[in-house]
Amino acid sequence: MLTIRGLQVRYGAITALRGVDLDIKQGEIVALLGANGAGKSTIARSIAGLLPFQGDITYQGEKLVPNAAEKNLRRGIALVPEGRGILARMTVYENLLMGIYTRSDKSEAMADVAKMLERFPILGKRRDGLASLLSGGEQQMLAIGRALLSKPKLLLLDEPSLGLAPLMTDTLFKMIAQFRDEGLTVLLVEQKARQTLKIVDRAYLLETGRVVTSGTAQALIDDPTVSDAFLGGTH
Ligand SMILES: Nc1ncnc2c1ncn2[C@@H]1O[C@H](COP(=O)(O)OP(=O)(O)OP(=O)(O)O)[C@@H](O)[C@H]1O
Ligand SMILES: [Mg+2]
Repeated sequence: MLTIRGLQVRYGAITALRGVDLDIKQGEIVALLGANGAGKSTIARSIAGLLPFQGDITYQGEKLVPNAAEKNLRRGIALVPEGRGILARMTVYENLLMGIYTRSDKSEAMADVAKMLERFPILGKRRDGLASLLSGGEQQMLAIGRALLSKPKLLLLDEPSLGLAPLMTDTLFKMIAQFRDEGLTVLLVEQKARQTLKIVDRAYLLETGRVVTSGTAQALIDDPTVSDAFLGGTH
């Protein structure tokens, strides 16, 4: 579904990505793991079309052009950004409506918004309240719900568990694991490597703008060098 070859991104003098290759097959949940500053968000943002980049990103057989966020969204690539990107001064409902702006099937889309409020009952309960009044976990649900309303094929989740309590993180990860059953393909950016490897098919480990290791979740869990470097050495 997605093929990345030789991806390079620079922010002025800073080189954030130094030639990244990455593949995501239809229906997979793939993790992008790495420490702060490794370049995870830069990869997610490049795929979403939010950055100028060098190299090739091919999505469903077609090369993506840099800085084409709306076009990519219409083609089925939705990003839930780091920090969630919800509109704090708008209501829960208004935030969800943002999710359908690219859709032309408006009456079906409105019905999907109503369904989303049922799927996440806490959002239904707070429908007309300000998004800023939701808890961190609820805001993350809102951000994901909004992204799902664009009917994505490829969902990019950038550190969705950031700042969430452990119980909320468990709930969130269970939900992400179930996206597979809905036919979604997911790129999950995370720092919580151990927990992430339990729910994904494959993962890429990123270090200072380069992929250092990749493989199936199980292979990475069983790899002692990976265990030492990324999983806290309790192999
Ligand atoms: N807007 C920007 N301007 C300048 N440098 C940036 C910018 N965004 C990111 N960088 C730099 O690019 C590198 C990669 O950043 P990126 O945000 O992709 O990392 P990350 O893996 O997502 O980190 P984190 O886990 O902290 O979110 C870092 O060195 C970062 O400081
Ligand atoms: Mg990041």
